[in-house]
Amino acid sequence: MIEISNLEKSFGSNQVLKGVSCTLETGKCNLLLGGSGTGKSVLLSCIVGLQKPDIGSITFDGTVYTNAKVGIRQEIRRKIGMLFQGSALFDSMTVAQNVDFPLQMLTPDMSAEERRDRVEFCLKRVGLENAGNKMPSDISGGMKKRVGIARAIAPNCTYLFCDEPNSGLDPATSIKIDELIYEITHEYNITTAIITHDMNSVVGIGDHIIFLHQGKKLWDGTKEEILNAEVPELREFIFSSSLVRAAKRVEEEDGPQGLEQLAQEPLSEL
Ligand SMILES: Nc1ncnc2c1ncn2[C@@H]1O[C@H](COP(=O)(O)OP(=O)(O)OP(=O)(O)O)[C@@H](O)[C@H]1O
Ligand SMILES: [Mg+2]
Repeated sequence: MIEISNLEKSFGSNQVLKGVSCTLETGKCNLLLGGSGTGKSVLLSCIVGLQKPDIGSITFDGTVYTNAKVGIRQEIRRKIGMLFQGSALFDSMTVAQNVDFPLQMLTPDMSAEERRDRVEFCLKRVGLENAGNKMPSDISGGMKKRVGIARAIAPNCTYLFCDEPNSGLDPATSIKIDELIYEITHEYNITTAIITHDMNSVVGIGDHIIFLHQGKKLWDGTKEEILNAEVPELREFIFSSSLVRAAKRVEEEDGPQGLEQLAQEPLSEL
């Protein structure tokens, strides 16, 4: 569990985070939801330690990260897997070399053979067992995301952070990537945080959703609760999506079962 308490962050006179407190739950997909410019990426950067918050604290499973000694920070960072927007693969390396890279960096005790087994295992887990020798330029956007996920989980991460994992993907591929992240999160009990403004993801994999608006957390809850949330800014956000209007209609007509069924299908087909 990651506990974020009263986080504030400004850039010059622009106060981006205005006292955000929230919890990222273990073994769940925690979605950071909100419009453009609301501070989602800045919050994630603070959590993974790329930015330093001005005020507030971040605690990883009871260990305070903010202002901790270098050794403690490194120890926590070692447990963090990151799926970057646009996958950010190394273009000059094969798929297998990309997945091997963090193992080389982070697990010096592993033998070459152990690393090879781990790479093979992770590529198989994301459905790419035959793609190890391919170059990133030779695979599709969805496959690149899969490689990014394999690379993120290769060193057995405890925490997984994904910045807009669906950006640039078609709706059907997006759902497959969401499902993969969801399965891996539950299978390995990872604390996963996913930045998104995709309502498909919300109704599909939102175990715990945190809604940010203008640098503040205005609501948090589950995918079952979100469609009936009473926060006006959140309602405006979700109902501006025609897909969600359609989902709401299904819920009204068929109840929660209809919604569950819908989560199995691409909403865009409505
Ligand atoms: N390194 C930085 N220096 C100065 N300002 C920054 C920096 N990073 C982010 N900001 C500002 O912080 C605000 C929030 O940005 P952020 O990238 O967190 O938004 P976001 O919610 O992730 O939006 P999007 O959905 O478009 O990715 C913006 O006004 C942005 O200009
Ligand atoms: Mg962002």
